Amino acid sequence: MLITNIRQLVLTEENARTTPLRGAELAILPVLENAFLLIENQRIVDFGDMARCPLRADQTIDATGRYVLPAWCDSHTHLVFARSREEEWVNRLKGMSYEEIANRGGGILNSANRLQETSEDLLFEQALERLGEVRKSGTGLIEIKSGYGLTVESELKMLRVIRRLKESSDVEIKSSFLGAHSVPLAYRNGYRQGYISLIINEMLPRIADEGLADYVDVFCEKLAFSVEEMEEVLTAAAQYGLRPKVHVNQFNCMGGIAAAIRHGAVSVDHLEVVDDSDIEALRNGNTIATLLPSAPFFLQDHIPPARRLLDANVPVALASDFNPGTSPSGRMPFVVSLACIMMKMLPEEAIQAATLNGAFALEVAADFGSISRGKYANLIITKPMPSLAYLPYSFGSDLVDMVLIKGK
Ligand code: NIG
Ligand code: FE
Repeated sequence: MLITNIRQLVLTEENARTTPLRGAELAILPVLENAFLLIENQRIVDFGDMARCPLRADQTIDATGRYVLPAWCDSHTHLVFARSREEEWVNRLKGMSYEEIANRGGGILNSANRLQETSEDLLFEQALERLGEVRKSGTGLIEIKSGYGLTVESELKMLRVIRRLKESSDVEIKSSFLGAHSVPLAYRNGYRQGYISLIINEMLPRIADEGLADYVDVFCEKLAFSVEEMEEVLTAAAQYGLRPKVHVNQFNCMGGIAAAIRHGAVSVDHLEVVDDSDIEALRNGNTIATLLPSAPFFLQDHIPPARRLLDANVPVALASDFNPGTSPSGRMPFVVSLACIMMKMLPEEAIQAATLNGAFALEVAADFGSISRGKYANLIITKPMPSLAYLPYSFGSDLVDMVLIKGK
Protein backbone atom coordinates (compact mmCIF):
# COMPACT_ATOMS: atom_id res chain seq x y z
CA MET A 1 0.00 0.00 0.00
CA LEU A 2 1.17 3.49 -0.88
CA ILE A 3 0.13 6.80 0.69
CA THR A 4 0.87 9.74 -1.60
CA ASN A 5 0.84 13.55 -1.52
CA ILE A 6 0.99 13.66 2.31
CA ARG A 7 0.95 17.29 3.30
CA GLN A 8 3.12 16.53 6.30
CA LEU A 9 4.50 13.22 7.50
CA VAL A 10 4.96 13.62 11.24
CA LEU A 11 7.59 12.12 13.56
CA THR A 12 9.87 10.57 10.96
CA GLU A 13 13.07 8.85 12.04
CA GLU A 14 15.87 7.82 9.66
CA ASN A 15 17.31 5.71 12.48
CA ALA A 16 14.93 4.65 15.21
CA ARG A 17 15.89 5.97 18.64
CA THR A 18 16.76 3.49 21.34
CA THR A 19 16.07 5.83 24.27
CA PRO A 20 13.02 7.97 25.05
CA LEU A 21 12.91 11.65 24.16
CA ARG A 22 13.71 13.73 27.22
CA GLY A 23 13.51 17.37 28.25
CA ALA A 24 14.11 19.78 25.37
CA GLU A 25 14.22 16.95 22.80
CA LEU A 26 10.44 16.59 22.93
CA ALA A 27 9.92 19.97 21.27
CA ILE A 28 11.98 18.99 18.21
CA LEU A 29 9.50 17.15 16.01
CA PRO A 30 10.90 15.85 12.71
CA VAL A 31 8.44 16.25 9.82
CA LEU A 32 8.58 15.80 6.06
CA GLU A 33 6.50 18.00 3.73
CA ASN A 34 4.87 16.64 0.56
CA ALA A 35 5.75 13.05 1.27
CA PHE A 36 4.91 9.46 0.39
CA LEU A 37 4.86 6.39 2.61
CA LEU A 38 5.08 2.78 1.44
CA ILE A 39 3.75 -0.19 3.44
CA GLU A 40 4.52 -3.88 2.88
CA ASN A 41 3.67 -6.84 5.11
CA GLN A 42 2.24 -4.69 7.91
CA ARG A 43 5.36 -2.53 8.15
CA ILE A 44 6.67 0.78 6.90
CA VAL A 45 9.23 -0.04 4.23
CA ASP A 46 9.93 3.41 2.85
CA PHE A 47 8.96 7.08 3.06
CA GLY A 48 10.33 10.28 1.63
CA ASP A 49 9.84 13.21 -0.71
CA MET A 50 7.09 12.83 -3.34
CA ALA A 51 9.79 13.51 -5.97
CA ARG A 52 11.11 9.97 -5.44
CA CYS A 53 7.75 8.29 -4.86
CA PRO A 54 7.44 4.77 -6.32
CA LEU A 55 5.00 4.81 -9.24
CA ARG A 56 2.77 1.90 -8.45
CA ALA A 57 1.23 -0.08 -5.59
CA ASP A 58 -1.72 -2.44 -5.24
CA GLN A 59 -3.56 0.16 -3.26
CA THR A 60 -2.96 3.90 -3.12
CA ILE A 61 -4.35 6.48 -0.71
CA ASP A 62 -4.15 10.09 -1.83
CA ALA A 63 -3.48 12.17 1.30
CA THR A 64 -3.55 15.61 -0.30
CA GLY A 65 -3.95 18.27 2.40
CA ARG A 66 -3.69 15.66 5.16
CA TYR A 67 -1.22 14.91 7.93
CA VAL A 68 0.03 11.40 8.66
CA LEU A 69 1.10 10.65 12.23
CA PRO A 70 2.14 7.51 14.10
CA ALA A 71 -0.85 5.98 15.90
CA TRP A 72 -1.17 6.84 19.59
CA CYS A 73 0.66 4.64 22.11
CA ASP A 74 -1.58 4.72 25.20
CA SER A 75 0.64 3.29 27.93
CA HIS A 76 -1.78 3.45 30.90
CA THR A 77 -5.42 2.32 30.91
CA HIS A 78 -7.93 0.37 32.98
CA LEU A 79 -10.01 -0.50 29.91
CA VAL A 80 -11.49 -3.70 31.37
CA PHE A 81 -14.25 -2.79 33.83
CA ALA A 82 -17.75 -3.98 34.54
CA ARG A 83 -19.76 -0.77 34.59
CA SER A 84 -19.52 2.99 34.44
CA ARG A 85 -19.71 5.03 37.70
CA GLU A 86 -21.53 8.19 36.75
CA GLU A 87 -23.52 8.19 40.03
CA GLU A 88 -20.23 8.75 41.94
CA TRP A 89 -19.41 11.55 39.55
CA VAL A 90 -22.75 13.20 40.27
CA ASN A 91 -21.98 12.88 44.00
CA ARG A 92 -18.71 14.67 43.37
CA LEU A 93 -20.58 17.42 41.52
CA LYS A 94 -22.61 17.80 44.72
CA GLY A 95 -19.42 18.28 46.73
CA MET A 96 -18.19 14.86 47.83
CA SER A 97 -14.48 14.21 47.21
CA TYR A 98 -12.95 11.24 45.38
CA GLU A 99 -11.25 10.20 48.65
CA GLU A 100 -14.53 10.37 50.61
CA ILE A 101 -16.25 8.18 48.04
CA ALA A 102 -13.34 5.73 48.12
CA ASN A 103 -13.27 5.61 51.94
CA ARG A 104 -17.00 4.76 52.00
CA GLY A 105 -16.37 1.68 49.88
CA GLY A 106 -17.16 3.36 46.57
CA GLY A 107 -14.58 4.01 43.88
CA ILE A 108 -12.28 1.10 43.10
CA LEU A 109 -14.15 -1.20 45.55
CA ASN A 110 -17.40 -0.37 43.80
CA SER A 111 -15.87 -1.41 40.48
CA ALA A 112 -14.43 -4.54 42.11
CA ASN A 113 -17.82 -5.64 43.50
CA ARG A 114 -19.37 -5.28 40.07
CA LEU A 115 -16.55 -7.00 38.27
CA GLN A 116 -16.60 -9.97 40.66
CA GLU A 117 -20.25 -10.55 39.65
CA THR A 118 -19.68 -10.17 35.91
CA SER A 119 -18.83 -13.09 33.67
CA GLU A 120 -15.56 -13.26 31.79
CA ASP A 121 -17.43 -13.37 28.48
CA LEU A 122 -19.41 -10.21 29.19
CA LEU A 123 -16.30 -8.36 30.44
CA PHE A 124 -14.54 -9.38 27.25
CA GLU A 125 -17.36 -8.19 24.97
CA GLN A 126 -17.60 -4.81 26.70
CA ALA A 127 -13.84 -4.31 26.68
CA LEU A 128 -13.58 -5.29 23.01
CA GLU A 129 -16.14 -2.63 22.17
CA ARG A 130 -14.17 0.01 24.13
CA LEU A 131 -11.01 -1.10 22.37
CA GLY A 132 -12.76 -0.63 19.02
CA GLU A 133 -13.73 2.89 20.07
CA VAL A 134 -10.22 3.95 21.06
CA ARG A 135 -8.85 2.37 17.89
CA LYS A 136 -11.13 4.67 15.90
CA SER A 137 -9.59 7.67 17.65
CA GLY A 138 -6.15 6.46 16.60
CA THR A 139 -4.80 4.20 19.35
CA GLY A 140 -2.63 1.40 17.95
CA LEU A 141 -0.80 0.26 21.08
CA ILE A 142 -2.34 0.11 24.54
CA GLU A 143 -1.57 -1.04 28.06
CA ILE A 144 -4.45 -2.49 30.10
CA LYS A 145 -4.38 -3.16 33.85
CA SER A 146 -6.12 -5.57 36.16
CA GLY A 147 -6.98 -4.15 39.59
CA TYR A 148 -10.77 -4.29 39.69
CA GLY A 149 -10.72 -7.93 40.74
CA LEU A 150 -9.03 -7.81 44.15
CA THR A 151 -9.61 -11.55 44.71
CA VAL A 152 -7.44 -14.31 43.28
CA GLU A 153 -10.16 -15.51 40.90
CA SER A 154 -11.27 -12.06 39.77
CA GLU A 155 -7.75 -10.73 39.17
CA LEU A 156 -7.08 -13.83 37.06
CA LYS A 157 -10.40 -13.29 35.29
CA MET A 158 -9.44 -9.73 34.35
CA LEU A 159 -6.03 -10.77 33.11
CA ARG A 160 -7.57 -13.58 31.04
CA VAL A 161 -9.92 -11.02 29.50
CA ILE A 162 -6.86 -8.94 28.57
CA ARG A 163 -5.23 -12.04 27.08
CA ARG A 164 -8.33 -12.64 24.95
CA LEU A 165 -8.22 -9.02 23.81
CA LYS A 166 -4.58 -9.55 22.79
CA GLU A 167 -5.65 -12.52 20.70
CA SER A 168 -8.68 -10.80 19.18
CA SER A 169 -7.47 -7.33 18.23
CA ASP A 170 -4.86 -5.97 15.85
CA VAL A 171 -4.19 -3.25 18.42
CA GLU A 172 -0.99 -4.25 20.24
CA ILE A 173 -1.71 -4.82 23.96
CA LYS A 174 0.47 -5.03 27.07
CA SER A 175 -0.99 -6.12 30.41
CA SER A 176 -0.17 -5.04 33.95
CA PHE A 177 -1.10 -6.83 37.17
CA LEU A 178 -2.57 -4.27 39.58
CA GLY A 179 -3.75 -6.49 42.44
CA ALA A 180 -2.46 -3.74 44.75
CA HIS A 181 -5.06 -1.20 43.60
CA SER A 182 -7.13 -0.98 46.78
CA VAL A 183 -7.26 -2.93 50.05
CA PRO A 184 -10.56 -4.89 50.16
CA LEU A 185 -12.78 -3.95 53.14
CA ALA A 186 -12.34 -7.32 54.85
CA TYR A 187 -8.60 -6.63 55.17
CA ARG A 188 -8.79 -3.01 56.29
CA ASN A 189 -9.05 -3.32 60.06
CA GLY A 190 -5.58 -4.33 61.14
CA TYR A 191 -5.19 -7.04 58.54
CA ARG A 192 -3.73 -5.24 55.53
CA GLN A 193 -0.76 -7.59 55.53
CA GLY A 194 -3.18 -10.43 54.81
CA TYR A 195 -4.03 -8.86 51.48
CA ILE A 196 -0.35 -8.21 50.65
CA SER A 197 0.29 -11.90 51.39
CA LEU A 198 -2.59 -12.87 49.11
CA ILE A 199 -1.04 -10.82 46.30
CA ILE A 200 2.44 -12.21 46.85
CA ASN A 201 1.67 -15.84 47.68
CA GLU A 202 -1.53 -16.55 45.75
CA MET A 203 -1.93 -14.11 42.89
CA LEU A 204 1.61 -13.55 41.61
CA PRO A 205 2.63 -17.22 41.30
CA ARG A 206 -0.52 -18.11 39.34
CA ILE A 207 -0.26 -15.07 37.10
CA ALA A 208 3.38 -15.84 36.38
CA ASP A 209 2.55 -19.50 35.80
CA GLU A 210 -0.04 -18.61 33.16
CA GLY A 211 2.10 -15.79 31.73
CA LEU A 212 -0.77 -13.34 32.18
CA ALA A 213 1.11 -10.11 32.94
CA ASP A 214 3.84 -8.06 31.29
CA TYR A 215 4.22 -5.60 34.19
CA VAL A 216 3.34 -5.10 37.83
CA ASP A 217 1.55 -1.99 39.09
CA VAL A 218 0.75 -0.69 42.60
CA PHE A 219 -1.41 2.28 43.59
CA CYS A 220 0.98 3.96 46.05
CA GLU A 221 -1.17 6.52 47.85
CA LYS A 222 -2.52 7.35 51.31
CA LEU A 223 -5.90 5.82 50.46
CA ALA A 224 -4.29 2.74 48.90
CA PHE A 225 -0.80 1.30 49.58
CA SER A 226 2.19 2.71 51.47
CA VAL A 227 5.67 2.95 49.95
CA GLU A 228 6.77 -0.03 52.10
CA GLU A 229 3.81 -2.12 50.92
CA MET A 230 4.55 -1.17 47.32
CA GLU A 231 8.18 -2.22 47.75
CA GLU A 232 7.11 -5.58 49.14
CA VAL A 233 4.94 -6.25 46.10
CA LEU A 234 7.59 -5.01 43.64
CA THR A 235 10.26 -7.18 45.27
CA ALA A 236 8.04 -10.24 44.95
CA ALA A 237 7.07 -9.45 41.35
CA ALA A 238 10.73 -9.01 40.36
CA GLN A 239 11.28 -12.69 41.10
CA TYR A 240 8.90 -13.43 38.22
CA GLY A 241 10.59 -10.92 35.92
CA LEU A 242 7.80 -8.34 36.13
CA ARG A 243 9.06 -4.75 35.95
CA PRO A 244 7.08 -2.00 37.68
CA LYS A 245 4.86 0.64 36.11
CA VAL A 246 3.26 2.29 39.11
CA HIS A 247 0.60 4.77 40.21
CA VAL A 248 2.41 7.36 42.37
CA ASN A 249 1.93 10.98 43.45
CA GLN A 250 -1.71 11.27 42.36
CA PHE A 251 -2.78 13.05 45.55
CA ASN A 252 0.25 12.98 47.90
CA CYS A 253 4.06 13.00 47.72
CA MET A 254 5.15 9.97 49.72
CA GLY A 255 8.57 9.09 48.30
CA GLY A 256 7.01 6.54 45.95
CA ILE A 257 8.84 7.85 42.88
CA ALA A 258 12.35 7.31 44.27
CA ALA A 259 11.34 3.90 45.64
CA ALA A 260 9.87 2.78 42.30
CA ILE A 261 13.02 3.94 40.49
CA ARG A 262 15.14 1.90 42.91
CA HIS A 263 13.06 -1.11 41.85
CA GLY A 264 13.78 -0.46 38.17
CA ALA A 265 10.41 1.05 37.23
CA VAL A 266 9.86 1.48 33.50
CA SER A 267 7.51 4.34 34.29
CA VAL A 268 5.99 6.25 37.19
CA ASP A 269 2.49 7.40 36.35
CA HIS A 270 0.20 10.29 37.44
CA LEU A 271 2.52 12.82 39.19
CA GLU A 272 -0.21 15.40 39.79
CA VAL A 273 1.88 16.44 42.80
CA VAL A 274 5.67 16.42 42.72
CA ASP A 275 8.25 17.75 45.21
CA ASP A 276 11.95 18.59 44.79
CA SER A 277 13.12 15.15 45.87
CA ASP A 278 10.84 13.53 43.26
CA ILE A 279 12.36 15.72 40.53
CA GLU A 280 15.87 14.85 41.71
CA ALA A 281 15.03 11.15 41.61
CA LEU A 282 13.77 11.44 38.02
CA ARG A 283 16.40 13.81 36.65
CA ASN A 284 18.63 12.14 34.06
CA GLY A 285 17.27 8.69 34.93
CA ASN A 286 15.67 6.24 32.50
CA THR A 287 12.29 5.99 34.23
CA ILE A 288 9.56 7.66 32.19
CA ALA A 289 7.15 10.11 33.86
CA THR A 290 3.75 9.23 32.40
CA LEU A 291 1.26 12.06 32.81
CA LEU A 292 -2.50 11.42 32.62
CA PRO A 293 -4.11 14.85 32.28
CA SER A 294 -7.66 13.60 31.81
CA ALA A 295 -7.70 12.33 35.43
CA PRO A 296 -7.01 15.74 37.08
CA PHE A 297 -9.27 17.32 34.44
CA PHE A 298 -12.15 15.02 35.39
CA LEU A 299 -11.43 15.33 39.13
CA GLN A 300 -10.60 19.07 38.84
CA ASP A 301 -7.44 18.30 40.80
CA HIS A 302 -3.79 19.40 40.75
CA ILE A 303 -2.29 19.75 37.30
CA PRO A 304 0.87 17.66 36.72
CA PRO A 305 3.89 19.99 36.43
CA ALA A 306 4.88 18.95 32.91
CA ARG A 307 7.08 22.00 32.31
CA ARG A 308 9.03 21.47 35.52
CA LEU A 309 9.64 17.85 34.55
CA LEU A 310 10.73 18.80 31.03
CA ASP A 311 13.03 21.50 32.39
CA ALA A 312 14.62 18.84 34.60
CA ASN A 313 15.37 16.74 31.49
CA VAL A 314 12.86 14.02 32.38
CA PRO A 315 11.39 11.74 29.67
CA VAL A 316 7.66 12.49 29.69
CA ALA A 317 4.91 10.33 28.16
CA LEU A 318 1.16 10.94 27.94
CA ALA A 319 -1.59 8.36 28.41
CA SER A 320 -5.36 8.31 28.86
CA ASP A 321 -5.83 6.43 32.18
CA PHE A 322 -9.17 5.28 30.67
CA ASN A 323 -11.16 4.07 33.73
CA PRO A 324 -14.69 4.49 35.12
CA GLY A 325 -13.65 6.54 38.19
CA THR A 326 -11.23 9.24 37.14
CA SER A 327 -11.07 9.25 33.33
CA PRO A 328 -14.10 7.78 31.58
CA SER A 329 -12.62 8.41 28.15
CA GLY A 330 -9.77 6.79 26.26
CA ARG A 331 -9.63 9.37 23.49
CA MET A 332 -5.97 10.23 23.02
CA PRO A 333 -6.61 13.30 20.82
CA PHE A 334 -8.35 14.86 23.82
CA VAL A 335 -5.45 13.87 26.10
CA VAL A 336 -3.06 15.63 23.72
CA SER A 337 -5.27 18.74 23.76
CA LEU A 338 -5.46 18.69 27.57
CA ALA A 339 -1.68 18.32 27.82
CA CYS A 340 -1.31 21.55 25.86
CA ILE A 341 -4.19 23.45 27.44
CA MET A 342 -3.70 22.45 31.09
CA MET A 343 0.00 21.62 31.31
CA LYS A 344 1.36 24.09 28.70
CA MET A 345 3.03 21.39 26.67
CA LEU A 346 3.67 22.45 23.06
CA PRO A 347 1.82 20.50 20.35
CA GLU A 348 5.16 18.99 19.23
CA GLU A 349 5.92 17.84 22.78
CA ALA A 350 2.46 16.44 23.40
CA ILE A 351 2.38 14.50 20.11
CA GLN A 352 5.77 12.90 20.76
CA ALA A 353 4.88 12.14 24.39
CA ALA A 354 1.66 10.39 23.25
CA THR A 355 3.37 8.30 20.57
CA LEU A 356 7.10 7.56 20.68
CA ASN A 357 7.54 8.00 24.44
CA GLY A 358 4.39 5.94 25.04
CA ALA A 359 6.01 3.14 23.04
CA PHE A 360 9.14 3.47 25.18
CA ALA A 361 6.95 3.32 28.29
CA LEU A 362 5.88 -0.15 27.06
CA GLU A 363 9.39 -1.11 25.87
CA VAL A 364 8.26 -1.65 22.26
CA ALA A 365 9.68 1.45 20.58
CA ALA A 366 11.60 -0.76 18.14
CA ASP A 367 8.23 -1.59 16.56
CA PHE A 368 5.90 1.31 17.39
CA GLY A 369 5.69 5.04 18.01
CA SER A 370 7.22 6.73 14.96
CA ILE A 371 7.44 6.76 11.18
CA SER A 372 10.54 4.66 10.74
CA ARG A 373 11.46 1.94 8.24
CA GLY A 374 10.78 -1.48 9.75
CA LYS A 375 8.28 -0.31 12.36
CA TYR A 376 4.66 -1.40 12.13
CA ALA A 377 2.49 0.72 9.84
CA ASN A 378 0.35 2.04 12.71
CA LEU A 379 -0.81 5.33 11.29
CA ILE A 380 -3.32 8.13 11.67
CA ILE A 381 -4.40 9.99 8.54
CA THR A 382 -6.06 13.25 9.51
CA LYS A 383 -8.79 15.18 7.79
CA PRO A 384 -7.46 18.20 5.89
CA MET A 385 -6.20 20.71 8.49
CA PRO A 386 -4.53 24.12 8.28
CA SER A 387 -1.59 23.14 10.51
CA LEU A 388 -0.41 20.41 12.88
CA ALA A 389 -1.10 22.60 15.93
CA TYR A 390 -4.73 22.68 14.77
CA LEU A 391 -5.06 19.05 15.93
CA PRO A 392 -4.74 19.75 19.70
CA TYR A 393 -6.09 23.29 19.32
CA SER A 394 -9.50 22.20 18.08
CA PHE A 395 -10.14 20.05 21.17
CA GLY A 396 -13.10 17.74 20.96
CA SER A 397 -13.23 17.84 17.15
CA ASP A 398 -12.82 14.57 15.36
CA LEU A 399 -9.92 15.17 12.99
CA VAL A 400 -8.83 11.53 12.71
CA ASP A 401 -10.04 10.44 9.29
CA MET A 402 -8.48 7.03 8.88
CA VAL A 403 -6.53 4.71 11.17
CA LEU A 404 -4.23 2.01 9.83
CA ILE A 405 -3.12 -0.66 12.27
CA LYS A 406 -0.36 -2.97 11.03
CA GLY A 407 -1.13 -1.65 7.55
CA LYS A 408 -4.88 -2.40 7.71
O1 NIG B 1 -5.52 5.80 37.67
N1 NIG B 1 -5.57 5.96 40.88
C1 NIG B 1 -5.93 4.80 40.84
N2 NIG B 1 -6.54 4.19 39.85
C2 NIG B 1 -7.29 4.83 38.82
C3 NIG B 1 -8.66 5.18 39.23
C4 NIG B 1 -9.40 4.04 39.69
C5 NIG B 1 -10.86 4.25 39.90
O2 NIG B 1 -11.32 5.25 40.46
O3 NIG B 1 -11.56 3.33 39.46
C6 NIG B 1 -6.55 6.03 38.29
O4 NIG B 1 -6.94 7.19 38.44
FE1 FE C 1 -4.62 4.59 36.43
